[in-house]
Amino acid sequence: MKIVILMGSPNVNGSTSILADSFKRGAKEKGHSVETINACTLNVNLCTGCIACGYEGDCVQNDDNERIRRALLSCDMAVFATPLYYYGMSAQLKTVVDRFCAYNSSLNRRHLKSALLSVAWNADDWTFDALTAHYKTLVRYINFEDMGMVLGLGCGTPSMTSRSRYPNDAYKLGRNL
Ligand SMILES: Cc1cc2nc3c(=O)[nH]c(=O)nc-3n(C[C@H](O)[C@H](O)[C@H](O)COP(=O)(O)O)c2cc1C
Repeated sequence: MKIVILMGSPNVNGSTSILADSFKRGAKEKGHSVETINACTLNVNLCTGCIACGYEGDCVQNDDNERIRRALLSCDMAVFATPLYYYGMSAQLKTVVDRFCAYNSSLNRRHLKSALLSVAWNADDWTFDALTAHYKTLVRYINFEDMGMVLGLGCGTPSMTSRSRYPNDAYKLGRNL
């Protein structure tokens, strides 16, 4: 499979990256190709809501979103990797998701597999409720097939994350695809 990781953490060596790298290692061992697209360093503007695209067509904005569009429409699986920011995905990743607007139907028709990798400082059992509700709703709406989620509770720093079971969970998710 061709897998695209949409990286939504601005910390290159942060906890989200630890999970993404572990997932990538597992998936590559299984023979999949994995490309990581960093939503934080690309130039992706906010959707202006103009709907010139008509929910499927050229976006009036000329930025790096075209690169993401091409990658997603030619892959088999999209992985959403994000730190938990105020109980949702990071704004960096949400910006990319909102720009799906211009290729909504095409993306729907791809029936991609998907996964969610996330980390949070908190460890309460409700920590990921809002994020997982959003992710599951996206999966349903965009006709993805969820392959799994790794939700790192108590992963507030890279050292906390490295010592947790979550990197191995992410590795296994990739390895078992
Ligand atoms: C702007 C911001 C908002 C955050 N919001 C939450 C939150 O709502 N709940 C939580 O448990 N942790 C929250 N955190 C902590 C991060 O999710 C956590 O430290 C994570 O490990 C950061 O991942 P990174 O190393 O990839 O940046 C927040 C951190 C920041 C910077």
